[in-house]
Amino acid sequence: MTEIALEPLRIVLGSGLPERNEAIARLITSGRSSLAFILGDEACRYRLLVRAINWDRILIAYRGPTALGYVAFKHHRRGPFSPGFGPFRDEFGRLRGGVRYLLFIIAEYREWYYGFYLYGLHVIKPARHQGVATALLTETFRQARQAGYDRVELEVQVKNRSAQQLYIQQGFVRGHTTPMNWLGRLLPFPAVVNMRRSLKSQP
Ligand SMILES: CC(C)(COP(=O)(O)OP(=O)(O)OC[C@H]1O[C@@H](n2cnc3c(N)ncnc32)[C@H](O)[C@@H]1OP(=O)(O)O)[C@@H](O)C(=O)NCCC(=O)NCCS
Repeated sequence: MTEIALEPLRIVLGSGLPERNEAIARLITSGRSSLAFILGDEACRYRLLVRAINWDRILIAYRGPTALGYVAFKHHRRGPFSPGFGPFRDEFGRLRGGVRYLLFIIAEYREWYYGFYLYGLHVIKPARHQGVATALLTETFRQARQAGYDRVELEVQVKNRSAQQLYIQQGFVRGHTTPMNWLGRLLPFPAVVNMRRSLKSQP
């Protein structure tokens, strides 16, 4: 067992961090790979989003100084990222940047009808199967209750069986499968399954 594995797991709200280093920002902006056709590859997503992270919408799991994973969520019309047009224009030029920015806003807007929405969850490969995601979800449920919600909702890609397994174990139930309605007919969004977890009867 490594020394890191012996350290207790800590779950920290991003806005409470004394300092936010580049590695954490890279971890957080690495998500949203399903929007790669809008936001580009991992390096590009970092450049577009790094200055627009809403740290109060992100929980980070640490053992000692090592960040092992994060969960991002959206509520009260505020998610983990609020980029302006500027970074898109700088990256892609005015016209192509404008189109991509518009598509990003549409993709984000599509989720506004959810109350407390689990936007992203990721654990680094060497730290998987050690309960890190479970600990992040437990703290997410606490954040949702504190924000006045009685359920948490999410969308997960139909093909992502391992994440669905985790969510079911954590009390989520499957809802409808969305081949992405009208948006999916226009753009290459993957099919997703909607899942929800009540906070009323479960701890
Ligand atoms: C899905 C993910 C977040 C799970 O993180 P984790 O820290 O390994 O999860 P936990 O250790 O808390 O797992 C708890 C339980 O969930 C289930 N589970 C987790 N990963 C699983 C997998 N790959 N296959 C099957 N079941 C899995 C298991 O029942 C597991 O218990 P076990 O480890 O005793 O078998 C991680 O694999 C990941 O980051 N994947 C890539 C990103 C992703 O798919 N995110 C979800 C997008 S919606």
